[in-house]
Amino acid sequence: MIIAIDGPAGSGKSSTAREVARRLEALYIDTGAMYRAVALKAIRTGVLPESPAFTTIAESILIHLEPSADGVKVFLDGEDVSGAIRSEEVSVMSSRVSQRVDVRRRMVALQRIMAQRASDSGRDVVMEGRDIGTVVFPAADRKFFVTASAEVRARRRARQLREKGEEVDEKDLLREIHERDERDSTREASPLRLAPDARVIDTSDSSFEEQVENILTQIRGNAAADAR
Ligand code: DC
Repeated sequence: MIIAIDGPAGSGKSSTAREVARRLEALYIDTGAMYRAVALKAIRTGVLPESPAFTTIAESILIHLEPSADGVKVFLDGEDVSGAIRSEEVSVMSSRVSQRVDVRRRMVALQRIMAQRASDSGRDVVMEGRDIGTVVFPAADRKFFVTASAEVRARRRARQLREKGEEVDEKDLLREIHERDERDSTREASPLRLAPDARVIDTSDSSFEEQVENILTQIRGNAAADAR
């Protein structure tokens, strides 16, 4: 079974997807982490994703995900960058690299291979991102679109960054979220959009446990219906 979980930044999608995968003992694939690793490469090399020189990077970059106790480890050209990809600078850059068609093509191919390997070995997959239900796996067995108001998402992001010791201005974060939403949903290549057959999970007013249970109930409910 392939479970696609899409939605905008800060909707609670990642932590929810990770917990759903843990409870189902499924392989968890965080596709945002892959775009973040590409972004880190852009920052480190100083080559802007909008420049033609980025083509070489897009073609040669090696990204690898490994399951870990707290979700997933991300490797960039063999180096563990799981912590380094979580800064605000990388968040902003990842939205820019994810506009590139060549980057997306490569990431989508990798995502399909990873999911295929898991399902060949009889494992369910929870894959989360922006275009999983629309582009990567349009025929996914279950599709969810996790969302929340921009204000709630900015507040959550501020809390996360403060916990990491970063100084934040919530107004700036809200503006960045609006800008990122706009870029992610209006870009030409695989914009963030709701798949017609996805279930919308609005997390603005629900607790983490409620979100996880809601998704699990729907997966189990549908599984029972499938078996009939
Ligand atoms: O989910 P996230 O914040 O870690 O994602 C980082 C960036 O990557 C975000 O700007 C959207 C982009 N992304 C994408 O374009 N497609 C995906 N499947 C996952 C993420």
